Amino acid sequence: MVPEPVKRTVAKAVIPAAGLGTRFLPATKAMPKEMLPIVDKPAIQYVVEEAVAAGLHDVLIITGRNKGNLSNHFDGVPELELTLERKGDEERLERVHEASELAEVHFLRQGQPLGLGHAVGRARMHVGDESFAVLLGDDLIDVRDPLLDRMIEVHDSRQATVVALMEVPPEAVHLYGCAATAATDEADVVRITGLVEKPAPEEAPSNLAVIGRYVLRPEIFGVIDRLEPGRGGEYQLTDALNVLASGGGEAPVFGVIFRGRRYDTGDRADWIKANLLLGVDHEELGPELRSWVIDFADRLRADDAARRAGRD
Ligand code: UTP
Repeated sequence: MVPEPVKRTVAKAVIPAAGLGTRFLPATKAMPKEMLPIVDKPAIQYVVEEAVAAGLHDVLIITGRNKGNLSNHFDGVPELELTLERKGDEERLERVHEASELAEVHFLRQGQPLGLGHAVGRARMHVGDESFAVLLGDDLIDVRDPLLDRMIEVHDSRQATVVALMEVPPEAVHLYGCAATAATDEADVVRITGLVEKPAPEEAPSNLAVIGRYVLRPEIFGVIDRLEPGRGGEYQLTDALNVLASGGGEAPVFGVIFRGRRYDTGDRADWIKANLLLGVDHEELGPELRSWVIDFADRLRADDAARRAGRD
């Protein structure tokens, strides 16, 4: 008999987008960093598209100050649509419609930016007693390297909380939550035995960093309720996950190791790289950008060589 396929149990996505975005000031003074464009779409649209591609059509965005920018993007814009219609500009009209027709998007205010753990805790009423995915609104996973589907599959087969992990160089570990792990019978899955938020290099249990994708079971809310402020005085999601991971196996936490392309669009250099990497493969802009980048790289090489020659 053919075994019944495991029924998918995750239907909702939560996207925290209420951080202050201080690394990107002053661009983020009056605009959330999740609205910064990558080529021609705000970062958050890619993230919502990723949730939808993984079958999650109910999306809750947690907003902070400057909420209007985010919610406007997922609303219709009658006057703009009418103008494009009158001009017969079907292509642009379609691009305007894309965001408003993508998913059932809900918004909830965090109130105060008390940390990622606090932001996720705010989703409790919306997600209820179900498992849900969390996608950080400033963390872009390249659509060509799917991750969330695999995480949901692992959640369903192991009935457990799942986080995404990525190998980072030891000198970058202090920027992330970092995991102590044990191997499983699947090459891309590890059992997480402990988590530390932004450890000093000598305290890091590994070079496996937590990146912005999680599939959480509803028991996380009880843990968040009991959380004390952690690093930076904020309620850290990593600390809540550590309570589960180090809790003796009653509510195990697994990590899916991601080896694809990921961009932290809240970091200025990564944001520029994301624009270039996606730009050179863009259907319309790609050919022009690609030859420009090649010329530019040649010019930089020549500049560097001249500088080195000047020093010798
Ligand atoms: P970050 O640590 O990157 O957010 O949070 P930040 O504080 O905005 O960044 P910088 O360091 O000041 O530049 C990771 C994710 O969690 C959200 C952020 O919007 C981002 O998507 N977040 C963070 C919240 O929703 N609420 C918070 O209180 C903190």
